[in-house]
Amino acid sequence: MIVLIIGAISFGTLVELVPLAFSKQLATPVEGLEPYSALELEGRDIYIREGCNTCHSQMVRPLRAETERYGHYSVAGEFVYDRPFLWGSKRTGPDLARVGERYSDAWHRAHLYNPRDVVPESNMPSFPWLFENELNAERVPKKMETLRSLGVPYTDDDIAGAVAAVEGKKEIDAVVAYLQQLGTLIQARR
Ligand code: HEC
Repeated sequence: MIVLIIGAISFGTLVELVPLAFSKQLATPVEGLEPYSALELEGRDIYIREGCNTCHSQMVRPLRAETERYGHYSVAGEFVYDRPFLWGSKRTGPDLARVGERYSDAWHRAHLYNPRDVVPESNMPSFPWLFENELNAERVPKKMETLRSLGVPYTDDDIAGAVAAVEGKKEIDAVVAYLQQLGTLIQARR
């Protein structure tokens, strides 16, 4: 019986996983997809550090209620350079997969400084320290090299220019840069 159960589960697993591993669609970037710039990459790391992804998902499901609210559903090719993925499923706040370019930079800055200044009923926390903390430019090239070793196509020029692109900037600049590009390659709504 045990052998039969193991056999059945293994067979099921293989049937599910093997075709996915060879699926071109999952590993092919959507047209125009670029690796995150040095500034966006820092923004993404701060997004994770601050736990934004614990309240915000980044995946629009292919359901009418979702596409009408957020825009085109998410496709695998948008995420091929994402490590780790930030899809999530917990939505205390709205999904952010298509939030890029929906608001101005000034709106995001005001909102992150104190959400209630722009959305009075908001229960999102304030993040005032992002406006004080400077980015640590030193470690950006190392991060990009690591990502490159995992298959993200950064060029030598990208890595050489990383420190200059980030130096002297504040954490808020990086977070806003990251938010403003989210989901902008595919737009059905707007
Ligand atoms: C405790 C949960 C929580 C956390 C943590 C959180 N948010 Fe939010 N967020 C919300 C809620 C609730 C809203 C909806 C009300 C509003 O717009 O403020 C929201 C709204 C937003 C919006 C506007 C989305 C839209 O389509 O209108 C953005 C952008 C956003 N959050 C970014 C962030 C970022 C960046 C972080 C991390 C620095 C973060 N949030 C952390 C709960 C959270």
